[in-house]
Amino acid sequence: MLTVKNLTKAFGSQIAVNNISFEVNAPKMIGVIGRSGAGKSTLLRMINRLTEATNGSVEFDGRDVLKLRGNERREWQSNCAMIFQQFNLVPRMDVVSNVLHGTLGNRSTTATLFNIFPRADIHKAIDILDRLGIAEHAAKRAEALSGGQQQRVAIARAVMQDPKVILADEPIASLDPMNAQTVMEALRRIHDEDGRFVIANLHTLDTARRYCDRIIGMREGQIVFDGTPEDLTTNVARDIYGAGNNFSETATSTEIREPSAAVLSFDDAVAMAN
Ligand SMILES: Nc1ncnc2c1ncn2[C@@H]1O[C@H](COP(=O)(O)OP(=O)(O)OP(=O)(O)O)[C@@H](O)[C@H]1O
Ligand SMILES: [Mg+2]
Repeated sequence: MLTVKNLTKAFGSQIAVNNISFEVNAPKMIGVIGRSGAGKSTLLRMINRLTEATNGSVEFDGRDVLKLRGNERREWQSNCAMIFQQFNLVPRMDVVSNVLHGTLGNRSTTATLFNIFPRADIHKAIDILDRLGIAEHAAKRAEALSGGQQQRVAIARAVMQDPKVILADEPIASLDPMNAQTVMEALRRIHDEDGRFVIANLHTLDTARRYCDRIIGMREGQIVFDGTPEDLTTNVARDIYGAGNNFSETATSTEIREPSAAVLSFDDAVAMAN
């Protein structure tokens, strides 16, 4: 069970996340949506302790993970794997070694130095790659794979840590629609089969609706929607994105403009020039 209470992050006078609270009682697949700058990444980074919160708590199974120090903090970070838009693999290293890097936290420095991985771990890594449909690429350099395959390697690396929670920050934002679909299916499978919590920041509405059980909408650092995909009507979405009547369901968060920042029509521009 994950409980976020009054979580706040200020960067100087800028409040990126403003006193937000929510609870996840059972492993769920949660999508976080909202326009650029709404505070989605900051929220995930605080949960994982990549960014220190200014205020509030994040309890997981009864412990405030924001208070953990040293080894306990590192333990939480490995229990709460992060997946990024840009995959963050080592491009020239083979796929299986990239996945095995997910176990680095648990290994001795000497073994790490010589890149010696226990045989059992190598088997486990290949099994995970197989579940994600990319075992055949295990020996290739990561950079030789397509974006969607690389993101599945990153998911495999996360699963290798055996985390209770997977946080994904725009995992499909750099992928074409086909690759985006395979990556979302992979995340959903890991969630369904292993019962891990998944929280993913997503930049398109249809992806959030299609793959998530619950959707949290953020606007200006606050939660303005928390419900099921069915509850997320076009009107609700327009409000979350703070968009005008020209709001399109298929737009991505980065495409949506302020209603006041509407592009001038050709006629208006001519009128202004005269
Ligand atoms: N390290 C930082 N220093 C200062 N301000 C920051 C920092 N990180 C984020 N911010 C600010 O906090 C606010 C929220 O940023 P955040 O990256 O969480 O938004 P986001 O919803 O993830 O946006 P996007 O969809 O563009 O990724 C923004 O106004 C941003 O400029
Ligand atoms: Mg972000």
